[in-house]
Amino acid sequence: MHILKQILRSPKLQSIASRAFCTTLNYGSYDKMGINAPLNRKLRMGMVGGGQGSFIGRVHSIAACLDNRAVVTAGALSSNPERSKASAPDYAISEDRAYGSYEDMLDAESKLPDDQRIDFVSITTPNHTHFEVALAAVEAGFNVVCDKPMTFDLAQAETLAKAVEQSDVIFALSHNYTGYPLVRQAREMIASGELGEIQAIRSNYIQGWLRTRLEDSDQKQAAWRTDPTKSGAAGCFGDIATHAYNLGRYMTGLLPDQISCHLKTFEPGRKLDDYGTAVIRYQNGALGTVTASQISHGRENDVSIEIDGTKGALQWRQENPNEMIVRANGQPHKIYTRDPNAPHTTPGAAAACRLPSGHPEGFFEAFANVYASAFDAMVARAEGGPIERVNTIYPNVNDGVEGMYFIQQCVESSKQDAAWLPLKHERARR
Ligand SMILES: NC(=O)c1ccc[n+]([C@@H]2O[C@H](COP(=O)([O-])OP(=O)(O)OC[C@H]3O[C@@H](n4cnc5c(N)ncnc54)[C@H](O)[C@@H]3O)[C@@H](O)[C@H]2O)c1
Repeated sequence: MHILKQILRSPKLQSIASRAFCTTLNYGSYDKMGINAPLNRKLRMGMVGGGQGSFIGRVHSIAACLDNRAVVTAGALSSNPERSKASAPDYAISEDRAYGSYEDMLDAESKLPDDQRIDFVSITTPNHTHFEVALAAVEAGFNVVCDKPMTFDLAQAETLAKAVEQSDVIFALSHNYTGYPLVRQAREMIASGELGEIQAIRSNYIQGWLRTRLEDSDQKQAAWRTDPTKSGAAGCFGDIATHAYNLGRYMTGLLPDQISCHLKTFEPGRKLDDYGTAVIRYQNGALGTVTASQISHGRENDVSIEIDGTKGALQWRQENPNEMIVRANGQPHKIYTRDPNAPHTTPGAAAACRLPSGHPEGFFEAFANVYASAFDAMVARAEGGPIERVNTIYPNVNDGVEGMYFIQQCVESSKQDAAWLPLKHERARR
């Protein structure tokens, strides 16, 4: 009882006790949580986008701060300077760090002393703005976490990748589905050969929210996503098929070779595709398909993937993310659950868990795992340590280039009645 009282009074003892508790129970990455040792402080986040009424900015702020490793310090939260400043209290951003534009934020933050200025910029704005914000942030020496698709077109993506390469900044892309523990489990099982040679990948991203012309109402998320000047050359395929394609690439590491794609706009008058299917030939001879829809009645956020190998097959669905089915002919079907303590859980999957099995983890936690991997690299950069910038756990600028190449080739192939076009890119990584 005396010891317990002492622990409750002392923050230092509390921290030691909590680490000892978590280590004893082997609660995955819990024992790694803290304040970014050896930096020993929280990373300071400057957010662009995320103003009142927006969607993904709030998710970024929660994901970044989930493990107590970051704090939202500054923001240029809206394209409208007044709304930007008015949104700052929602994130507890102080008045002097609430900026009217991202240019003001980068300029003012660059002039602050090292121990005050932001460490990274999170870009959570519509697609057409990503490039200018990201390039300016990289050139000013700030780490970046950018939402997908990385840029408006491939040329911008390649320019950005070169700028990142020539700098020493950490650049992460929030393909957040890569952060689910069972996605990382699949990746590690495939890499170790458990499924044999991979021969087929079927990935889908099926939604129904744009079944009607929602863009004609006041719905701003629908408005910019269906506007080619803001979304880019593709609608549904730029917005969500890129996630499904990235998921297959992330899980299997198979390198793409060629693509054939059909895009359709089913809602009359809509300016961009709202449905499509792509077939991908991989360099090892495997075949992949990516189907994405925004017009399927009743479908919410149904990202799913099936992978067939010579020794086994797996299936995962993000609407039920804590389960993965693995099958092999002649054997009972296996249901893997997210379980940091199970002997069959791979190290990367265990490290991506925060809770024991049976306590559902979901979208925020997966998003936070992308941030956590990027934070490890940011801490290493701040400490001057060696940093892996190509084969990262988190999706990086090269994956962003690949995503933009995928979009470009889908649109071009579709224009040519699903002609086969190249999909090999020098930046593609296993
Ligand atoms: N990773 C994911 O799962 C996921 C999910 C949804 C959206 N996204 C991506 O996130 C981005 C934003 O999507 P959303 O649905 O949150 O959009 P949104 O329309 O809800 O929010 C965009 C926000 O950015 C602000 N903004 C626009 N231009 C700005 C500028 N120049 N400076 C500062 N703020 C500016 C807007 O005022 C708004 O607050 C898109 O690129 C989208 O593709 C990713």
